[in-house]
Amino acid sequence: MTETPDSASAGPGAGGVFDAAFLARFEDLLAWRRDVRRFRTDPLPDDMLQRLLKAAHMAPSVGNSQPWRFVTVDEAARREAVRASFRRANREALASYSGETASLYATLKLEGLSRAPVQLAVFCDGETGQGAGLGRRTMPEMLAYSCVCAVNTLWLAARAQGVGLGWVSILEPETVADALDVPASWRLIAYLCMGYPAEEHLDPELERAGWQAGTGLDARWVRR
Ligand SMILES: Cc1cc2nc3c(=O)[nH]c(=O)nc-3n(C[C@H](O)[C@H](O)[C@H](O)COP(=O)(O)O)c2cc1C
Repeated sequence: MTETPDSASAGPGAGGVFDAAFLARFEDLLAWRRDVRRFRTDPLPDDMLQRLLKAAHMAPSVGNSQPWRFVTVDEAARREAVRASFRRANREALASYSGETASLYATLKLEGLSRAPVQLAVFCDGETGQGAGLGRRTMPEMLAYSCVCAVNTLWLAARAQGVGLGWVSILEPETVADALDVPASWRLIAYLCMGYPAEEHLDPELERAGWQAGTGLDARWVRR
């Protein structure tokens, strides 16, 4: 078989293994993926969102159920309803802390809702028939977990294209579902801000802000 010069379509090599250069770049991608809250306002190129959603749609899902439902939010009134929900939820979150922790929390930048050119809500369709229930009988939450897989795939695909993504969970999920007028069986999984980052960092914003640093793998790995 002749070699294709287009590495993007070449796929893995012998034994289904990607080459060392790709693996090194893949590690870079994982290391550089950040939760982005500071966006430039310029729009993404026309086909970018389509391309990124196609990547997200390649995520694994329980029973191949593909339960994710993507809702792009462009209308000003709907965006404002989401921002208002964030303001309420964030006020309540702030009130749950006290002392120095509250003072620090108040300084954190926790969303990019006013600048991100793209806003995308990801819902899980709890009533999808796709997959015929495979893998969900004893663990029904697998449907939602599948949607999270799609979000993470989107996150990495976006970063690979230089697009930042920020996950906003300081929201009232039912208010957001109402504001977006989605079917009752859809549950909010993620509200995502997307666009080009205004700054690039190798360390998480919450670490830089002194809120929470990451901790090592050893403390997370139990051997039995
Ligand atoms: C499920 C989920 C929900 C999150 N919700 C928020 C949020 O509401 N606001 C925020 O600033 N960051 C949010 N984040 C981002 C995390 O704070 C961030 O991933 C973490 O601090 C590590 O930073 P990094 O993603 O840059 O590595 C969320 C992340 C996840 C996975």
